[in-house]
Amino acid sequence: MKITIVGSGYVGLVTGACFSEVGIEVVCVDIDQNKINNLNKGIVPIYEPGLEAMILRNMQKGRLSFTTNLASAVKESEAVFISVGTPPDEDGSADLKYVLAVARDCGKHIDDYTLIVTKSTVPVGTSIKVKNAVQEELDKRQVKVDFDVASNPEFLKEGAAINDFLKPDRIVIGLESPRAEELMKTLYKPFTLNGHPVIFMDIVSAEMTKYAANSMLATKISFINDIANLCEIVGADINKVRKGIGSDSRIGNKFIYPGIGYGGSCFPKDVQAIIRTASEYNYDLRVLKAVEAVNNEQKLLLYNKIMQYFNNDIKGKTVVLWGLSFKPQTDDMREAPSLKIVEKLLEAGALVKAYDPIAINEAKHHFGDTISYYEDQYEALIDADCLAILTEWPEFKIPKFKIVAKLLNKPAIFDGRNIYDKEEMKELGFDYFCVGIKTSANINKLAPIS
Ligand code: UDX
Repeated sequence: MKITIVGSGYVGLVTGACFSEVGIEVVCVDIDQNKINNLNKGIVPIYEPGLEAMILRNMQKGRLSFTTNLASAVKESEAVFISVGTPPDEDGSADLKYVLAVARDCGKHIDDYTLIVTKSTVPVGTSIKVKNAVQEELDKRQVKVDFDVASNPEFLKEGAAINDFLKPDRIVIGLESPRAEELMKTLYKPFTLNGHPVIFMDIVSAEMTKYAANSMLATKISFINDIANLCEIVGADINKVRKGIGSDSRIGNKFIYPGIGYGGSCFPKDVQAIIRTASEYNYDLRVLKAVEAVNNEQKLLLYNKIMQYFNNDIKGKTVVLWGLSFKPQTDDMREAPSLKIVEKLLEAGALVKAYDPIAINEAKHHFGDTISYYEDQYEALIDADCLAILTEWPEFKIPKFKIVAKLLNKPAIFDGRNIYDKEEMKELGFDYFCVGIKTSANINKLAPIS
């Protein structure tokens, strides 16, 4: 079986690599000639653990190839997966121009039955637009070719994408014909052998499932962050509260870690897009509006704490940031809290030094020479006034605290991911601030109990 994946971005590359890994012949298409040239040389444009090795292995086996020639790829394929970007418009709605351009290209080139599957996260109702676009092109050609459309949203997490694809919790597929269902069952069979279910449904429900899933997860995070902030004010410990509520299986202990707000390519964009979709239907998604508002404020939490610590004057102070990506195991900085924090710190006149195990090159695109970059996490601390942890990279979890204390002018740590123990921090002599826990430093300087 041969399939085409259009869009060699994050989702497209992982999808293409994983389908080829189980023996399916995959052609990955992208309009970016440079990207395709690099991929053909084995140079993968994104950092994702295990992806490069998988791509190289399958290229060598002849099952995975890369091209800009969409026409020939589509002609030879039984299924075409659309996984191009859907960037947010100015008003927050997803921009469908790339998805629909691919749909039209499919209509221009298919000669036999083809299943056209939307994998990009698209607003409810997009698959019908895809179907119409394909049909319009077929009509222009005055040919009759059978095709189906399907919606197959992707739930993979960056940093764990390969595992998520190979061993998915579930596969959601929206479609409207038995032929399409047969084809999708065949394609996904290798991934369902361990009992992971494929959930077939109508197309609109599949499209909605993706937004509902990401919105629910984003809601969990904003909820726990809101409760964490209150914990700090009343003197409760969010770590204990989190464990206390998480052991109720209806709540669950996953995805309720407080922090400095969710980032990434999905949650912020998808929450905005579903709010937008709802408003188009005159429905006010009140909960998600609050989720978004809490998240925007949460991204400023560490900045606010730093400001308070230095009595609202950080002009000329040097702040070191450990971790710039929106989460560990990725160099992705889209909607990362670091973007907002750096902007505010610079605005207030601070000097910013940064270390990240992977994201430095990416960070340079965002910050240029407005901040300084370090290849060593300790070197960054020399003569600095405080340290802020923005991403919970494993290598930050047990640092050489004595060296940290010695290098910093002021022994202050602002931990946006709650990776340290407050008692240990106190013993080591740090002024320690984290999220949702009243530390001794917090008690003295911030948010006193009234
Ligand atoms: C997410 C979804 O998990 C995935 O199913 C979907 O397909 C795409 O969006 P991803 O963006 O890769 O995946 O990141 P994820 O690991 O879900 O984390 C998202 C954000 O939430 C990160 O900024 C992370 O730091 C934050 N987060 C996550 C928390 O603050 N607390 C948590 O408990 C979990």
